[in-house]
Amino acid sequence: TIKLGLMGAMDEEIALLLGAMEEKKAVVVGGVTFTEGQLHGLTVVVCRSGVGKVNAAVTTQILVDRFQVSAIIFTGVAGAVDPQLNIGDIVISSSCQQHDMDVTALGFERGVIPYQAVSDFLTDAQLMKLAKDACSRVCHNHNYIIGKVLSGDQFIADHSVVSRLYEEMGGACVEMEGAALAQVSYLNDIPYVVLRSMSDKADGSAHVNFAEFTVEASRRSYEIVNDMLVHW
Ligand code: ADE
Repeated sequence: TIKLGLMGAMDEEIALLLGAMEEKKAVVVGGVTFTEGQLHGLTVVVCRSGVGKVNAAVTTQILVDRFQVSAIIFTGVAGAVDPQLNIGDIVISSSCQQHDMDVTALGFERGVIPYQAVSDFLTDAQLMKLAKDACSRVCHNHNYIIGKVLSGDQFIADHSVVSRLYEEMGGACVEMEGAALAQVSYLNDIPYVVLRSMSDKADGSAHVNFAEFTVEASRRSYEIVNDMLVHW
């Protein structure tokens, strides 16, 4: 039977999922609370990883080892990188890569993990399609695109960095967990998709916009996950 791991980094990103679940039982592993239960007839494990790649990596491995999830969906907010994106718009991951992996001094391209076959971790095609179909039903007043999610242990608030992430790395949005989740999923051969609604544009106004729009953007991302589960 399927069991889905549903992850956010912050309370705002998982609050609506926790509110909608039934038959909840929570356990703490590695300092992270995992809430297992039912949502639209599916068994789900909802967790808040905490911010950053290490937290996301550890939480993902626990979802695999302890809960034996068959797929993982990340839901949350990000900074827009693709100039066509506005606050509230959605990015469905096509892949995820670490933008702060930097071994350029040894001749590797930015984002490349040395001596490893893969550094840009592909999203499962079926999960991407489910997410896209959900967006076509749920996203009425905002855009959604499929694109590369860039992750790093940095809150980006500088337009010149955004330009570099877009031009040099082809990113659609930037956040702090997706590539870690994607890498651990890849290592364990588990399908994943990252869904992000834009809370800001990762520029000089990012800190203000993030504070203002995180709750609203989290809700938009939740609505897509919710619709994916309804139509599973
Ligand atoms: N998450 C939301 N906005 C972000 C930003 N500007 N940089 C990194 N992570 C984010």
